[in-house]
Amino acid sequence: MRNLLTKGVVLGAAALLVLTACGSERDDEGDSGSGGGGSTGEAEAGFAADSLVGVALPAKTSENWVLAGDLFTNGLKEAGFQADVQYAGASTTVADQQQQINAMVTKGAKVIVIGATDAKQLSTQVAQAKQSGATVIAYDRLIANTPDLDYYVAFDNFKVGELQGQALLDGMKAKKPNGPYTIELFSGSPDDNNSKVFFDGAMSILQPAIESGDVVVGSKQTDIKQTATQGWEAENAQSRMDSLLNSAYTGDKELDGVLSPNDNLARAILTSVEGAGKPVPVVTGQDSEVESVKSIMAGKQYSTINKDTRKLVAQTITMVKSLQAGDEPEVNDTESYDNGVKVIPSYLLDPVIVTKENAAEAYADDPTLGPLTK
Ligand code: BGC
Repeated sequence: MRNLLTKGVVLGAAALLVLTACGSERDDEGDSGSGGGGSTGEAEAGFAADSLVGVALPAKTSENWVLAGDLFTNGLKEAGFQADVQYAGASTTVADQQQQINAMVTKGAKVIVIGATDAKQLSTQVAQAKQSGATVIAYDRLIANTPDLDYYVAFDNFKVGELQGQALLDGMKAKKPNGPYTIELFSGSPDDNNSKVFFDGAMSILQPAIESGDVVVGSKQTDIKQTATQGWEAENAQSRMDSLLNSAYTGDKELDGVLSPNDNLARAILTSVEGAGKPVPVVTGQDSEVESVKSIMAGKQYSTINKDTRKLVAQTITMVKSLQAGDEPEVNDTESYDNGVKVIPSYLLDPVIVTKENAAEAYADDPTLGPLTK
């Protein structure tokens, strides 16, 4: 509720038009953008063109974070900035990230980009950054309960959830034309603000089907607290799936589908189901991870979501360049993402659902995934 009061309605046709228009602008900038940084070292309202930009990323819980780090390091340098890109460690994520942000503030970073490990534990650091005169941008994950966050750049994560919920229904219908369908629900780590947003998005599609009886959650575990996967760890999802199978799916009880919030967890869920000797259910995902795209092409995992990290990082760097030049960065949404204190001006990109049907097309220009053949 705190995150998205009015979603669905907000990203209407107008916003999509803006997205499309901006998309082509970004593409145009793609090749020539790197030289742009040299022009405005003397910007009055901005800051020096070779200033330090800090990027604090969470632990590497999925491939997109690994990719983002490299893209930020290279992209910021190409744009003429000094880049300080840090990851939180796997076990001491919150403390690590807090210290890393403090260090960026001390070193005089002019912009600090944060992919939060824990949405609710950064308000002190964000306040310090703000006091030092830095601009703070939340990257991919919103930072909660702070008035000091300036901008949010992300794929529209509520829409990610909606696409996952719809893919689950479509996939099950394609396999078995008539319900009722038996499913299980998984969500991400409770400390990641996105987890609830993805889940709420998916449930906005699934709930009516559950209420009508067309979809049944076999374990009856529908509360996000029950479905959570601490730390986005694959082993946690796998062991929860193991115990669900042992309790709610004994004998030849069928499992038609599983809502999985990302690819890493989808593969763990599939491993569990295979281990139990059950037929492969329809399993959703997110992130276009290499192994999951292979699994989709092999007819195992049903879907993923393409949130092209290259575009998200490029959009963030575009924002940094605007700030450097003393301009107000472009946003395309000022209504959807409320962090509990205020609505954060956001630049939202459009996520794309990918199944075996459209994978070749979706990844045609992706150097790691394409070209694919059905
Ligand atoms: C990201 C997902 C990712 C997950 C785990 C989320 O905040 O939006 O793309 O799968 O974190 O790393």
